[in-house]
Amino acid sequence: MSNKSNAPDAPTRNPKLVAWVAEMAAICKPEQVVWCDGSKKEYDEMCDLLVKGGTFIRLNPEKRPNCYLARSHPSDVARVEERTYICSANKEDAGPTNNWAAPAEMRTTLKGVFEGCMRGRTMYVIPFSMGPIGSPIAKIGVEISDSPYVVVNMAIMTRTGTKVLEALGDDGFFIPCMHSVGAPLAPGQKDVSWPCEGDISRKYIVHFPETYEIWSYGSGYGGNALLGKKCLALRIASVMARDEGWLAEHMLIMGLQAPDGEKTYIGAAFPSACGKTNLAMLVPPKALEGWKVLTVGDDIAWIKKAPDGRLRAINPESGFFGVAPGTNMESNPNAMLSIQKNAIFTNVGLTDDGDVWWEGMNNNPPAHLIDWKGEDWTPGCGRPAAHANARFTAPASQCPCIDPEWENPAGVPISAFVFGGRMSKDMPLVFQAFNWAHGVYLAATMGSEATAAAIGQAAMRRDPMAMLPFCGYNMADYFTHWLNVGRRVSNPPRIFRVNWFRKGEDGKFLWPGFGENMRVLKWIVDRVHGRGFAVESPIGWMPRHDDLEWKGLDYNEDTFYDLMAVGREAGTMEAHAHEELFDRFFDRLPKEFTFERELLRSRLWRSPDRWELAHEE
Ligand code: GTP
Ligand code: SPV
Ligand code: MN
Repeated sequence: MSNKSNAPDAPTRNPKLVAWVAEMAAICKPEQVVWCDGSKKEYDEMCDLLVKGGTFIRLNPEKRPNCYLARSHPSDVARVEERTYICSANKEDAGPTNNWAAPAEMRTTLKGVFEGCMRGRTMYVIPFSMGPIGSPIAKIGVEISDSPYVVVNMAIMTRTGTKVLEALGDDGFFIPCMHSVGAPLAPGQKDVSWPCEGDISRKYIVHFPETYEIWSYGSGYGGNALLGKKCLALRIASVMARDEGWLAEHMLIMGLQAPDGEKTYIGAAFPSACGKTNLAMLVPPKALEGWKVLTVGDDIAWIKKAPDGRLRAINPESGFFGVAPGTNMESNPNAMLSIQKNAIFTNVGLTDDGDVWWEGMNNNPPAHLIDWKGEDWTPGCGRPAAHANARFTAPASQCPCIDPEWENPAGVPISAFVFGGRMSKDMPLVFQAFNWAHGVYLAATMGSEATAAAIGQAAMRRDPMAMLPFCGYNMADYFTHWLNVGRRVSNPPRIFRVNWFRKGEDGKFLWPGFGENMRVLKWIVDRVHGRGFAVESPIGWMPRHDDLEWKGLDYNEDTFYDLMAVGREAGTMEAHAHEELFDRFFDRLPKEFTFERELLRSRLWRSPDRWELAHEE
């Protein structure tokens, strides 16, 4: 097959890739096609282009060298879950928690919206690798996009360019990722600083799980547009992982190094904007001297059984796309240090001296700045300077606590999985599952309160494994897959639930969180190595007050019991609510879950009105 005439400048001879690019160009009708080589020169030129076009503002080079600010359209600020589709041949294979459309119908719709959608624009071809190039766990994707903002963000978030084409070779497999902001330009029409489709009902984030394909139309923001991230590394990868026997998860990966040098790696899943980036880069409190946290990843983990029978994980990304508001030198100094240079900021405030500012960066807001909408802002004006889902894009290599093993193509060995939502009531600080199946149950029944990371979320929702918006197939089959993975490894990771967000009667957080979370992690590490103590509670193994390290923290013992209490009525209602979730999956729900729920109910039935750790002492 020769497509030379269609794409004479293609820097690859991979016939599938050449043909696909030619076909997409014929549909989208861009002014020109540019293949990205991933070089620094190209990055700088694209940034210059973005500055000229008004999308980027160059920040003060003395304060933020090589950094840029972008302001999105106010309608294009987060993932759009209601426009996200899993188009499997059978509706049941997408499951009750995903939007579904028949593949043929969706293809017709997409053909309609993509037709001529790049008129007056450049079509960029971005070859990228999720995972270190050449890693046996890595996958190659190619994103076609008409957004130069996407090109530079992808250059930070993934490994891009010529070296990826070399790894792909003439007959290698790649995942096609088609993206357009959906804003063609008529001849002579002036461009805007953030082109996108303004009508939300014309936005589409579409996945074809059977053919491993992604089509995204109408948005230029985050997970809607940087297709390596949620679309490929979670939705499509979760399907590939099911097919090939591994796991693609919405998890941070961190190494916990004890004072004697022993290193324990864990994967931790939290829903969007619930603290993965913070936890991944945690700075242990001074009193826990000698403990060190090392970051492998802050958002996504690909986990595979290694030849030695253990689960090993890689971070498929090479950058952080982190929530800016609330990030400061106390809450996350390592993130602050990662964004000092070579970073892109989206939807934060611009100070008069050309730096960035957001709510929670420090306690002295500037007297004046330009807010994320481009308007004058003063501290008392009643509007936020940054959007709640404002983000920074920064290279992972700039993180002071990046793990030396973070690019190990074989990954790092995982000893524990931690799951946590944002639950202001009833859910204790930490507990451990009785066994693998119970742990999978605890992960699957996780709940969380809404955040700004997605548009239009309900107040509280079940978010199994923090994967509700990211699983590319029926979640009941996903639970079964999880159960099977545990059966296939010899010594499966221990499973824990945590909740940093429980509040007292006064509405304040009961737990200080952030660096102090190290105390919980230390207990988890101790449990993993068989030396940490715990007692059996109705919901799992729990540390008593004395089982946690309190050195250097003045924390009231009674408050700890409030933090850990299990209410019988609340627990029973919770167990009842699990049934509502399970009902939706009906005949595909693993049998284990029905039994786990009954066991939970009977344990609660026999417990006091308010089960307290103090009763055990
Ligand atoms: P995505 O990138 O959207 O997947 O999210 P993430 O899980 O990486 O979220 P991130 O770390 O950016 O979460 C930030 C939010 O969590 C902020 O509102 C923080 O204040 C809050 N947060 C993080 N850690 C803690 C903690 O230990 N306690 C409390 N109370 N809040 C925390
Ligand atoms: C999330 O929402 O979980 C994110 C941000 O990590 S985005 O890439 O926009 O999906
Ligand atoms: Mn995320």
